[in-house]
Amino acid sequence: MQVLVCKNPAEVAEAASMIFASLIYEKPNCILGLATGSTPVPTYQRLIALYNKGLLDFSKVRSYNLDEYVSLAGTHPCSYRYFMNTELFDHVNIDKANTHVPNGLGDDPEANAREYDKMLEECGGIDLQLLGIGRNGHIGFNEPRNDHFVYNTNIVTLTQSTREANAQYFDKPEDMPEKAISMGVGGIMAAKRVLLLATGKSKAQAVHDTVKGPITPMVPASILQAHQNCQIICDAEAASLL
Ligand code: PGA
Repeated sequence: MQVLVCKNPAEVAEAASMIFASLIYEKPNCILGLATGSTPVPTYQRLIALYNKGLLDFSKVRSYNLDEYVSLAGTHPCSYRYFMNTELFDHVNIDKANTHVPNGLGDDPEANAREYDKMLEECGGIDLQLLGIGRNGHIGFNEPRNDHFVYNTNIVTLTQSTREANAQYFDKPEDMPEKAISMGVGGIMAAKRVLLLATGKSKAQAVHDTVKGPITPMVPASILQAHQNCQIICDAEAASLL
């Protein structure tokens, strides 16, 4: 695990977008693992800016997102499908048919989870997986637990900490779903390269525990210590406890 400490969130985004851009230049049909949340937004903005300058072509890129709320349609402004469309996909020449977000709709979310794993297996492997990190050390919606890591895509009951962090995006905080569908840590660890971004003081403890603590399902991101090609790019605040 390699840690790069930048001065501020703008530098984090600059470094991350360069890593994405080089991959897309080198391998135009690459498979990206994408993340939602406030942290990757400035990175997506830089990728859009490069596209607008004619420097990036997403036409052959395929993508798989980490997670989605259960029972929220992709047209709901708080869904992660909506987020990806408005923050990135609508602004570049990616073919939406090549973009995948776990499906939280329908009567059988568990079957959707199995279907997502099948798609991940068949896609030939994610080249670069982008991650944010929760204040509690979650990656995707893999929440801390005291028994074991969950490897497959699964249905998660969101913790209080995550609900508090994300309720702000909903008009009425009580509208926030209690469950989500998330790629498991197995899907994340199978990516050829992992890039975790962390900015701000609220992430300092989680970054510390991820990098310096034991590998434990209580800190889901700590499993990245076992990944062969994982970089963490954080700003000075997020790195303040390292
Ligand atoms: P954030 O979320 O980027 O909005 O802080 C990150 C996460 O919960 O994974």
